[in-house]
Amino acid sequence: MLPDHLQVIDFNKKLKSWYLENHRPLPWRKTSDPYKIWLSEIILQQTRVAQGTPYYEKFLINYPTVFDLAKADEKDVLRLWQGLGYYSRARNMHYTARQIVDEFEGRFPETADKLSKLKGLGNYTAAAIASFAFGEAVAAIDGNVYRVMSRLFGIQSDMLSNEGKKEFAALAKELVSHEDPATYNQAMIEFGAIQCVPVSPDCEVCPFTYMCYAYAFNLQSKFPVKVKKLTVRQRHLNYFIIQKGDMLAMQERKGRDIWKGLYDFYMIESKESEVLPDVFIDDDLVGRLFTAGQVREVPKSYLHLLTHQRLNVRFWWVKIFENKEFELPPTLAFYTKEEVEILPKPILIDTVLKEENYL
Ligand code: ADE
Repeated sequence: MLPDHLQVIDFNKKLKSWYLENHRPLPWRKTSDPYKIWLSEIILQQTRVAQGTPYYEKFLINYPTVFDLAKADEKDVLRLWQGLGYYSRARNMHYTARQIVDEFEGRFPETADKLSKLKGLGNYTAAAIASFAFGEAVAAIDGNVYRVMSRLFGIQSDMLSNEGKKEFAALAKELVSHEDPATYNQAMIEFGAIQCVPVSPDCEVCPFTYMCYAYAFNLQSKFPVKVKKLTVRQRHLNYFIIQKGDMLAMQERKGRDIWKGLYDFYMIESKESEVLPDVFIDDDLVGRLFTAGQVREVPKSYLHLLTHQRLNVRFWWVKIFENKEFELPPTLAFYTKEEVEILPKPILIDTVLKEENYL
């Protein structure tokens, strides 16, 4: 059942005073520039505040306005994003910055509806920008907000289902403050981030225990309800780092791929975890490597966790003998150490190069 008008007013008042007393002074909360807000929300989609904040600052130093980002080379944008993961966020931002400059003379659309039509902006990000930058009374519902609403109002629907989403959206529409939607949204997000936390929330200091369904029935851990399970794909990646002098053979990843636009090494995917490089001997390039150089296993294997994938990664380092020529397939090219350093790379690649004392 939806709360009535007086309940909404009371809720908003308490939420705002909680926020004014408790919120963290985060840099993107001091601005109404839609470009900066957009950047912060994209970074924070899959990244924690502590990890994301230095990237936010660094990004703005390099690209202070949407015009600067639009002019940038995608390689440089990806290099700056290196370590944050989910690189499609950076590629989409770059694409959308160009669109905003080319089609809208650098001015952001001012409603959530119009913003959500841009590449890389979902309903949440569009609502966040529209309310923080332009004062539109739309609710921004991220994972934090789902949790807060489901606990307070005892929403049993699956937040990942379409019906569930509709139910949450209807409630959020009632709750959002029309006087100060920006503070309302920041407050809901912040309340979920630091008070109504996923595990063991400290309900003794919460201003809403008197009205909280989950608190009343001690069911905090059961909300929000998520029925749809994420399926996580196990993948096994085997990399060959081919070195000639101080140069390494690298390739730009193309196609629809999480690492599109980043640079990595020659890679063979296998069904199972493989510990010996010679299982790949039938591969033309690997076959040639065994006669052209010395193959050394990187002792450590790496695990890289993504939302839908679990990557088990092994590396073999091949030093091509000095007097040998080695012809690379057209997708690969040798890059000097200085070039390898500045190319955008998956963080895993950067890590192995540092751990192996190459970089
Ligand atoms: N997570 C997503 N958006 C956020 C914001 N504006 N402030 C803090 N954490 C967030």
